[in-house]
Amino acid sequence: MLSSGIPVATLLDDPASVEKKLFFAASKDLIRAWELGFFYLKTPDDLDLETARQFGRKLLASDSPYRQVPHYGELEGFIALENNQQTKLALRRERWGQHYPEHIAAFGRQLDAIGIAIIREVFRQSGILEALWDRASGGYASGGGDAFLNFVYYDTRTPDWGLRPHTDYGFVTILDASAPGLQIEVGGEFEDVPVLASHLIINFGEALNFITAHSNRAVSAVTHRVVSQQSADSVRHSIVYFANPNLDGMLWQFDAAGKEQGSSKVQDLFAQLENKLTETR
Ligand SMILES: [Fe+2]
Repeated sequence: MLSSGIPVATLLDDPASVEKKLFFAASKDLIRAWELGFFYLKTPDDLDLETARQFGRKLLASDSPYRQVPHYGELEGFIALENNQQTKLALRRERWGQHYPEHIAAFGRQLDAIGIAIIREVFRQSGILEALWDRASGGYASGGGDAFLNFVYYDTRTPDWGLRPHTDYGFVTILDASAPGLQIEVGGEFEDVPVLASHLIINFGEALNFITAHSNRAVSAVTHRVVSQQSADSVRHSIVYFANPNLDGMLWQFDAAGKEQGSSKVQDLFAQLENKLTETR
């Protein structure tokens, strides 16, 4: 664990399977990560983060062809919001092959594998029977579900929040940030999250909190924000991957005895969260 109190995990080969497995140096670090809903992950050696960062930085160029990627609904495409520092190229897994170069689509599939390793460790800790993981996660735990790979930049010359305080709605968020600015809420106070070289930032979301709520070890969905950027660099870049349930699917709550304790349509859960966010704004 770092002096800041943020736990650090590593993905290691698991002798018992072909998958990588999530490890913390001490079990108290894992417990802290689950309580916070937040931890650092040592960047896996085979992940070519630098090439992906270069791809993200090139989006700034006004003649970048990726600025022409069309909108698909509100969440996908090249999106520049007027009232926000954030500009992004956002795409679901199904469109990576169509719009991203092959090496970026492959990078996204590597993040899929990381997301799956994390959610499988969450399930392992939860005591929920392995036969139920797929159903509980709307297919994400076995390679389905919904995933976004987004390249984001924050223009620090726009005087506004980077991102207002919120929780993520999905299962797991994987973040690579080039500059400080992210803060997480710990015990009612916002704390800076230092950029830690060679580490990704992982946070848990509401859907994961929901499906583990009645299990042996529930995870928290961490409240976080990005403060208005005022660094010497006028732009802060990040790469963000969201592991989500399918929007038209169901989420199931199981206890460690395999008994069903509740369920929700994904859309209903997300709509509830949206209402809560609106009320507290
Ligand atoms: Fe977020």
